[in-house]
Amino acid sequence: MQVLGFKDYHEQGKRLAAELAIEYLEVAIHHFPDGESKVSLPTALDAEIIFCRSLDHPNNKLIELLLACDVARQQGTSHITLVAPYLCYMRQDIAFNPGEAVSQIIIGQWLGQLFDRIITVDPHLHRIHELNQAIPNAEAISLSASGLMAEFLMQRPNPPVLLGPDSESEQWVKHIAEQGGLEWEVAGKQRQGDHNVEIMLPEVDFEDRVVVIVDDIASTGRTIAQAAKALRQRGVQTVDCLITHPLFADDAEQVLTQACINHIWSTDSINHHSNVIQLAPLLAKAIQS
Ligand code: R5P
Repeated sequence: MQVLGFKDYHEQGKRLAAELAIEYLEVAIHHFPDGESKVSLPTALDAEIIFCRSLDHPNNKLIELLLACDVARQQGTSHITLVAPYLCYMRQDIAFNPGEAVSQIIIGQWLGQLFDRIITVDPHLHRIHELNQAIPNAEAISLSASGLMAEFLMQRPNPPVLLGPDSESEQWVKHIAEQGGLEWEVAGKQRQGDHNVEIMLPEVDFEDRVVVIVDDIASTGRTIAQAAKALRQRGVQTVDCLITHPLFADDAEQVLTQACINHIWSTDSINHHSNVIQLAPLLAKAIQS
């Protein structure tokens, strides 16, 4: 078995191969001036391989994985795993208006046709609860980073109160808090648009508390920023945030900084300088079991 990584995610790919004590090889990608991709795989592939690439900014990556899978199958590889700690297109799980594509089902089924096994971390599932409902046609493994996140928070000098910024975050914040023996709360959220979010804090005394906002995704950063602003108005001592998937679109990081968040921490699901938690041991254990 070999790990095949990509330049944009090579550190994580190498760490995964090291955890598994197997060879790391790299897929070469050339982007033509018109935006098309040329994909070249090493030619001595094992019967079983693992592609390791997170699917943030997914559109080019999906096409490149399609091309890479085809080459690998032509070379005789019979079992292909995709390790994508961030799994794209999972949030649109219903057509809110006639004519809208339900990307979770479409992309999930397509990935299931390409890969024999898909391993991801804390996918954003809202109206369904099992990853194989989105990917019914392959082995679909959903891991949770909550244990690693709890371990990280337990090393902090002051035990924080964890705040999930919306009802969807309860599944993560509760799990992390329980594993770390920490207090937790969940806020309410109303989203009026991509950049317009209102947060309603629970009726809890946050004065002088050390609070860590925990969420699965920071995309525009507005959810966490609004939660941080609301906490400041309640007189908290400090606000930090811990995110599983640091997408950080456009000005997201600036928005978080302006909201006076002390520390921004994340897992290495997506490359970002806030990465403090490495997922390789978790991913390797799932592959070995
Ligand atoms: C949604 O329910 C997710 O858990 C996140 O809260 C959301 O994706 C964050 O988005 P943004 O950073 O754009 O507010």
